[in-house]
Amino acid sequence: MEDLEADLFTFKGFTLARVAIKTDHLEKLDDLEIRDDDVFIVTYPKSGTVWSKQILSLIYFEEHRTRTAHLDTIYRVPFLEYCIGKEDLGERPSPRLFNTHLPYYLVPRGLKDKKAKVVYLYRNPKDVLCSYFHFIKMYAVFKAGDTMEEFMKQFLEGKVQGGLWFDHIRGWYEHRSHFNIQFMAYEEMKKDLRSSVLKLCKFLGKDLSGEAVDDVVRQATFESMKDDPLANYENVLNTRVGVTRREGHFLRKGTIGDWKNHMTVEQNERFDKIFQNQMKDFPLPFIWDINEV
Ligand code: PPS
Repeated sequence: MEDLEADLFTFKGFTLARVAIKTDHLEKLDDLEIRDDDVFIVTYPKSGTVWSKQILSLIYFEEHRTRTAHLDTIYRVPFLEYCIGKEDLGERPSPRLFNTHLPYYLVPRGLKDKKAKVVYLYRNPKDVLCSYFHFIKMYAVFKAGDTMEEFMKQFLEGKVQGGLWFDHIRGWYEHRSHFNIQFMAYEEMKKDLRSSVLKLCKFLGKDLSGEAVDDVVRQATFESMKDDPLANYENVLNTRVGVTRREGHFLRKGTIGDWKNHMTVEQNERFDKIFQNQMKDFPLPFIWDINEV
């Protein structure tokens, strides 16, 4: 384990935020016993993690669709690597839903039995960068680069929680045959949330009524989640994770192409060159602009 900055450290070559991390918990993750009906959402940070947590919990649990259970999304679908709740992950009742930012080589080895399901949600990396820049500036626990230029350098060197974006997505994609995995794009969900929910249900083998699907979709829009204290992380990050907020909201804009408002022409061209170099021959499609949708 290597200290990077006060807020970050690396574990087996992967960069994590120090907050809510326990090393002995990380060490034991490889051995976590996996059940056939477990579901794991995998994301690089700022790619729609909380959104997919909300959707999954609504698909799986009627009490969340009907709002009779008052549980924050972060506890409905706990992080694998960050210790935010108190519960022992191994003790949770089935079906267990988890999310993680870990790379393919650090998740519990039982996932390679290909019975439990994995959903990899990705987002175009310019919007990830932009969302990340605002997130880092918002929380006092992170060392904020003052400018987009500083943060873009940090991001392109992988000196952020989640490591290098290119390594994360390529690693999971190139090792996809080891897992029972479905890739989904943030932008596709934005384009047509209902179709994406149905696609997820099909992959998960969940046969919901039309009315239940409507409930999921209604409670998973950006506007509903922004207004829902259980879904918008406002309380949880301040009170449980102990992260002091400067200003802004976790659910910030939730759109496609906001990078155009934050990157200069030169930064965009530089990013494009690196993207083309790193991602050549990579087959998953990317949507960069709301008008492409
Ligand atoms: S984290 O910190 O890694 O867990 O962040 P993550 O949840 O992956 O990403 C946060 C961004 O997701 C946006 N978001 C949504 N977009 C559209 N619809 C819905 N319902 C939704 N919920 C969350 C959130 O606004 C962050 O993106 P930006 O671009 O900053 O708004």
